[in-house]
Amino acid sequence: MTARIIDGKAIAAAVRTRLAERVAGLSFQPGLAVVLVGHDPASAIYVRSKDRAANAAGIAAQTIRLPADTAEADLIACVTGLNNDPLVDGILVQMPLPPHIRTQAVIAAIDPAKDVDGFHPMNVGRLADGHPFLVPCTPLGVMRLLAEADVSTAGARALVLGRSPIVGRPMAALLLAADATVTVAHSRTRDLAVECRRAEILIAAVGRPEMVKGDWIGTDAVIIDVGINRTADGKLVGDVAFAECLPHAGAITPVPGGVGPMTIACLLENTVTAALARRSL
Ligand code: GUN
Repeated sequence: MTARIIDGKAIAAAVRTRLAERVAGLSFQPGLAVVLVGHDPASAIYVRSKDRAANAAGIAAQTIRLPADTAEADLIACVTGLNNDPLVDGILVQMPLPPHIRTQAVIAAIDPAKDVDGFHPMNVGRLADGHPFLVPCTPLGVMRLLAEADVSTAGARALVLGRSPIVGRPMAALLLAADATVTVAHSRTRDLAVECRRAEILIAAVGRPEMVKGDWIGTDAVIIDVGINRTADGKLVGDVAFAECLPHAGAITPVPGGVGPMTIACLLENTVTAALARRSL
């Protein structure tokens, strides 16, 4: 048997269409501000796609571009200005930030009610204690993909590969909230292949090209590949060796066209969630 391919691009397009219809029915226009510091080429591409997708959904998006040598205090002043701007419902500061800026200090300066990345300690805590409000976009996108692909999480053995604050940790919390039996594996995990083989749902988020091999996959497992890695010959690959895993898995996401498009769709959803919550709607 060959695995069903979960088409993240099509699912994200459907989510965005539904969202645009919801936005069109609102009596106000939600606003999203994206802050980009410096000239990281990958970040510049992401920020442009976010801007375009937000505007297409009827969200008023603005991008604030600051020079790479911006002082931390000036970036925090910019964030504070956005916190106080009534037309802004969502604030996203694109990561990574230049090394002279303390990422945690900037995240802590964002109003938790406008924190559409879900990175503020208040939102991290809400998710950790089982009462999520604004949740990081990539793991939220993975949960939406699982739901749309009719994957049942309750009681399932789920393995999260990676423990980053952006993906692995919130992913584990969301799966736990969805009643999965969750294991988090990472660079110090022993017998990684054995852990992977036991998983009915495997979420790979380690940033290592094609690290998960075909014979690590349990029969009919659902594989969600969060990785986006560029190989030496310029090809985009995930954290999973896709072709090798196809004959073993029950369902699998491709790279590109799997999780990536869902991240932006969920950012737009979070912006609308924040906009409605701020107005107590
Ligand atoms: N850089 C890579 N992923 C993300 C993300 O989800 N949010 C932000 N702000 N920066 C990122």
